[in-house]
Amino acid sequence: MYEHDVLIVGAGLAGLRAALESIDAGKNTAMISKVHPVRSHSGAAQGGINAALTDRGDDWKDHALSTIKGSDYLADQHAVEIMCQEAGENLIELENMGVIFSRNEEGKLGTRRFGGQTVARTFFVGAITGSAMLHVLYEQTVKKQAKVYEEWFVTKLIIEDGECRGVIAMDMHTGKLEIIKAKSVILATGGAGRIFEPSTNALICTGDGLALAYNAGASLMDMEMIQYHPTGLAGNGILLSEGARGEGAYLLNSEGERFMEDYAPEYLELASRDVVSRSEQTEIDAGRGVDGCVLLDCRHLGREKIEERLGYLQEVATEFRGIDLAEQPIPVKPTMHYIMGGIKTDESGRTNIPGLYAAGECANVSVHGGNRLGANSLLDTIVFGRRSARAAIEYVSTVKTLSKNKTELNNETKRIESLVNRTNGERSATLRNEMGVSMTEGIGVYRDADSISMAKNKIVDLIKRYPNTAIDNKGKVFNTDLIFNLELGYMLDVALTMCIGAEERKESRGAHFRTDMTERDDKNWLKHTNVKKKNGEPIFYTSDVTITNWKPEIRKY
Ligand code: FUM
Repeated sequence: MYEHDVLIVGAGLAGLRAALESIDAGKNTAMISKVHPVRSHSGAAQGGINAALTDRGDDWKDHALSTIKGSDYLADQHAVEIMCQEAGENLIELENMGVIFSRNEEGKLGTRRFGGQTVARTFFVGAITGSAMLHVLYEQTVKKQAKVYEEWFVTKLIIEDGECRGVIAMDMHTGKLEIIKAKSVILATGGAGRIFEPSTNALICTGDGLALAYNAGASLMDMEMIQYHPTGLAGNGILLSEGARGEGAYLLNSEGERFMEDYAPEYLELASRDVVSRSEQTEIDAGRGVDGCVLLDCRHLGREKIEERLGYLQEVATEFRGIDLAEQPIPVKPTMHYIMGGIKTDESGRTNIPGLYAAGECANVSVHGGNRLGANSLLDTIVFGRRSARAAIEYVSTVKTLSKNKTELNNETKRIESLVNRTNGERSATLRNEMGVSMTEGIGVYRDADSISMAKNKIVDLIKRYPNTAIDNKGKVFNTDLIFNLELGYMLDVALTMCIGAEERKESRGAHFRTDMTERDDKNWLKHTNVKKKNGEPIFYTSDVTITNWKPEIRKY
């Protein structure tokens, strides 16, 4: 019998941080993850984590303003205030746990400046910050003997009388479905990058938690806000950290010009990501690109700095392109990187379903609004991982009985068996490829009514075809063919909400830039877009943005 007070789906940074909080509160806690925790995508975050430390003369309010301006005023300001106020305490706690942050010449924690920020407030571990944090938090959970359902795949949330009471999940080692009962569930499953091709995201980023929540009746908010990172490696989209530009690297066009001088005269390469990606795309479209890319030039930083601060980038450049960054610029292009949208939550991770919480990239608190600043995502995972666990712990004390559900497991088992037994259908990979290509074309750096409707029509068509797909592997043990198929179902659900958000938001704001409606329209669209499932159909509605201290202004960098 699998029973817990707090069950956390996902064991990346948000999940691990939530687990530590729950274990420390003495709750029966478990994490469930389709991969080993240190293989979670949080480990791919490179450049750092933001915090305004007062003993350096920095001010959380300045961090908040940069975040809100970066969001194109779509972030909920009370949530941003919480994140920026709690950042310092969380950072020091991470250091105390054992994260070995890089140091400056004085031996203090070093910083680099990241995009959209006025000062250097990004703390880092070379260019492997996410990985360093992930390993330390994982070690902490091992020390506390945390229970992990490792390589288990969640297929459904159990909702009883409108409340979340656990999950149905497949033990991938045996292929058997089990019911895991819980008084509360925290979704910390990360993003949905693989809906797009290419993407900087790992193959595991398939929007599982978003789809589970959406299908259970939660709202997905601002799903049209897709972040294209300015420096994805040409060809395969591997991330080359903003840390390079933070250390002073330039972006050049085919004429050898630092073109950001024309688009963001003050912040140059360190304008917000949406602005830099659009500028790159404009240069490429105007014929000033290099084979459909621009160039990231680190040569003037010198070999020593490149190897000390950007060692991981040097490795990627050498291994994937045969380029030595100290000798040669490297081709980069805007590449899908992050979803600002996600499961609508309050500032403590509560969704509209009692007992169901969300934190990290799958959640939308909303602290990133229309565009996330680099190095605010690691901060988001830690701050809101902890806060969601605190709220779940409080809720657990109000729950008297565990799920009594008997039919849900049988129904799910039959559903999965019928998928496995199906023959002669289309292959998931065909649909997945069509989805990735159309989403990148339709919901790209630039978009308009036609491109959005092309992407939406394609997704609707794929949703119709999906029930007739078949898999080749009929086995039980680690049937990745089956997992791949189930993930595709999740991605299609989530992709549709992205298309609906993009279609409905009739303005340009943050990462949502429509060439047919180029202005931000605060009068009509200083609003969140939301999509919710009702009677099997997506329902669209808007909700208010919380403004506290910072009135929307024109963004200039
Ligand atoms: O460029 C980077 O290092 C990515 C960081 C982030 O997305 O926060």
